[in-house]
Amino acid sequence: MPKSVRDILSMKGSKKITVITAYDYTTAQLCDKAGVDILLVGDSGGMVMLGYDSTIPVTMEQMCFFTEAVSRGRQNAMVVADMPFMSYQASKSQAIENAGRLVKAGADAVKLEGGLEIKDTVHAIVEIGIPVMGHIGFQPQTTTLQEGYKVQAKTKDSALRLIENAKALEEAGAFSIALEMVTKEVSEILTESIKIPTIGIGSGPSCDGQVLVVHDVLGLYEKIKPKFAKRYRELGVEIVKAVESYKSDVTSGRFPTQEHSFSMEKTELERLKKEIA
Ligand code: KIV
Repeated sequence: MPKSVRDILSMKGSKKITVITAYDYTTAQLCDKAGVDILLVGDSGGMVMLGYDSTIPVTMEQMCFFTEAVSRGRQNAMVVADMPFMSYQASKSQAIENAGRLVKAGADAVKLEGGLEIKDTVHAIVEIGIPVMGHIGFQPQTTTLQEGYKVQAKTKDSALRLIENAKALEEAGAFSIALEMVTKEVSEILTESIKIPTIGIGSGPSCDGQVLVVHDVLGLYEKIKPKFAKRYRELGVEIVKAVESYKSDVTSGRFPTQEHSFSMEKTELERLKKEIA
């Protein structure tokens, strides 16, 4: 049975929440088997799966496609899908319609970037029965347009604004909030000042949970290597080595062998040869 909103809420203060991104069936299955609590179909898929330079070009069609594959691969984890840039900003009805599309694609909840300015939108989505995870701090869909990658909440005023945004999302009915690249001191204060779980990425150890991009965890993405991401393996290096071995076997004739081939009955082969002759 997949984890519910209630399960995630109950983990605050008792058990850390593990979140990892996934964009396809096989990876979702493996991460689910590893016991993560939430599979996040992040719009970061636009970068690590589709090769865009940012998350801005990502479309609803692409997010639905990723979400369908991930939901088919999970058994126990909750599936949260990102609402891509400009899929919820134009109007509340646009947001509700697109959140509904992600749920129909297999998501249990959606994630939106923004604070106070999207409070009513979050409320409207929650009201119709779709759980929402907020996302504040560094917001890749908009902050990259304005100032690039930057640590958030370094001053008293920006910290207060961030806490205000978190409280607005909580009030609007969000069941959790992703905190991206927020100073660890402010993450701690913020986590203590709201009742819903905070899920940190580059936001220190005090958050109620942590999220990382699966390509960073596995060492598969070379273009950007964030300071906050721990690379547990270098599978990119392993993949290149494996494919080099395959190429070398093909060119030298070491592959395929008997083991990888299919045979015809001897008598049938003789009949065939006779006929051809
Ligand atoms: O798209 C994504 O992967 C995310 C995480 C960075 C939280 O939103």
